Amino acid sequence: MSSNATPGKTPVKSTGLHTGEIVPGVAKVDPIIIADGVRRSFGGLTAVDVEHLEIPRNAITALIGPNGAGKTTVFNLLTKFLPPSSGQILYKGEDITHRAAADVARSGMVRSFQISAVFPHLTVLENVRVGLQRKLGTSFHFWKPESTLYALNDQAMALLESVDLGGFADTKTVELPYGRKRALEIATTLALDPELMLLDEPTQGMGHEDVGRVVELIRKVAANRTVLMVEHNMNVVANLSDTITVLARGTVLAEGPYETVSKDPRVLEAYVGSSDEEAA
Ligand SMILES: Nc1ncnc2c1ncn2[C@@H]1O[C@H](COP(=O)(O)OP(=O)(O)O)[C@@H](O)[C@H]1O
Ligand SMILES: [Mg+2]
Repeated sequence: MSSNATPGKTPVKSTGLHTGEIVPGVAKVDPIIIADGVRRSFGGLTAVDVEHLEIPRNAITALIGPNGAGKTTVFNLLTKFLPPSSGQILYKGEDITHRAAADVARSGMVRSFQISAVFPHLTVLENVRVGLQRKLGTSFHFWKPESTLYALNDQAMALLESVDLGGFADTKTVELPYGRKRALEIATTLALDPELMLLDEPTQGMGHEDVGRVVELIRKVAANRTVLMVEHNMNVVANLSDTITVLARGTVLAEGPYETVSKDPRVLEAYVGSSDEEAA
């Protein structure tokens, strides 16, 4: 694991992330991702048409917008689950437009559900251990003595404790309470030590207490990495994000800190008539 996390409060990063006036598509001081002219159509429908988008490094960016705005498609494009119809995507300065999803994941861009297709009948600890093995690249060394596996136990246990799942180590994953599943997803994602973590609605369907726990968890894991998350719960967005990108009809409608974005008349208008009432 990276060890440069600083304990204590995450510094406020909302200022100093952007260069110059904050307009949609604004350049970032230190972008980890640059998407340029990225379009994706499905048949005759243009789902995403992003003129320019940069994701700042070492910050939490929330991607928001009404249902159907193109958020999941943007995630699929950035993580290479979907090829763009046109345009270019740079990750850490490299053109990844034509790279494969697994290749991009190996370079440190990991989407939480990607590896959280966890094995339901393994224990919580075993699932994290599988993630650690992947990171080591020994997943297929089945001839290795079992002791190698056990050497990973301490590391897996530490990861579980970091997401407050230590008490569930021996629980069969299928029996884990719903509110704890996202914590396990995050633990298995962290096992890969991602530089850029993408979370698609990390608090979806959770009760109040679980939401609070996941928010604290995301804040903690973001201390030394970049997080890009799609999130519908505006309290979570307000609480966690350093900067927000608002998508509407596939384009970037607004960007900036919560204080300005949440008052932007164009943003409020985009949500009117949609079912995302929490956004108002
Ligand atoms: N695989 C697909 N085939 C056809 N249309 C799709 C597909 N994926 C998404 N779309 C369409 O693209 C638009 C954006 O969808 P999506 O990215 O899922 O939005 P969001 O995640 O913001 O709700 C929607 O109109 C949706 O119906
Ligand atoms: Mg979606």
